[in-house]
Amino acid sequence: MTTSPLPAAHPDPAHYDRTTIMFHWLTVFLVVGLFALAETWGFLPRGTPTRRLLQSLHISFGLAFAAVFVLRIVWRVCRGRRLPPGSSGLLRVASTAVHGLLYLLMGAQIVLGFLFRWAQGEPFTFFGLFDVPTLIAIDHEQRRFIGGLHDTVAWTIIVLALLHALAALFHHYVLRDGVLRRMLASR
Ligand code: HEM
Ligand code: HEM
Repeated sequence: MTTSPLPAAHPDPAHYDRTTIMFHWLTVFLVVGLFALAETWGFLPRGTPTRRLLQSLHISFGLAFAAVFVLRIVWRVCRGRRLPPGSSGLLRVASTAVHGLLYLLMGAQIVLGFLFRWAQGEPFTFFGLFDVPTLIAIDHEQRRFIGGLHDTVAWTIIVLALLHALAALFHHYVLRDGVLRRMLASR
């Protein structure tokens, strides 16, 4: 007998759907990669070709991240399987708050990334394939302020994501419930 995907009205409570899982792990890869690129070029002297390459990779992957983020939200709102919280009481409040904050900060980081590039007034391309037009003219003087905010939000996302990952591991190894497993594999 073949197993068909469960209809949305009767979601499998043990797992998220494949697309939600794919979006989650793609987001993890992109967020960690974007942060690692920025931290790496921080060690390189200004203006060197390698530093410039890492910066342009950050911007191209940043654009990919923006697209993934929008698609993920659309999927979550329209079709994605939403499961009941994996914990109760205070833990439930904390996990809902952290998930909401992560979405909020990722959205803010994308907006700041665009504003930062427009304030820098330098090339803004997706792997050299097309240019992103300047939709909002930003004073060049604002670039330090916007850059500082982009950096602070980056660190906040990384610290929150780390706590969130530790909580997932705590569920798996200490509470021994299925919370991590439901974001790992789907039927
Ligand atoms: C969660 C996702 C992201 C993280 C963690 C992140 C992190 C960072 C960090 C830590 C810096 C260095 C800031 C500084 O030292 O002042 C940076 C720079 C930058 N980011 Fe992001 N970023 C993300 C998303 C984006 C997006 C979506 C864009 C726009 C498409 C973007 C555009 C930029 C630009 C233009 C710079 C400056 C590059 C340069 O100096 O030439 N970032 N980012
Ligand atoms: C940059 C890193 C990460 C970000 C930005 C992130 C973001 C998120 C968000 C926003 C959700 C809520 C999904 C929803 O209900 O719409 C979520 C769920 C989840 N994440 Fe992450 N995550 C990250 C890393 C990780 C890591 C490393 C792990 C595992 C060690 C993990 C395990 C989980 C699990 C198990 C859930 C489902 C929780 C539940 O069903 O209550 N995440 N993540």
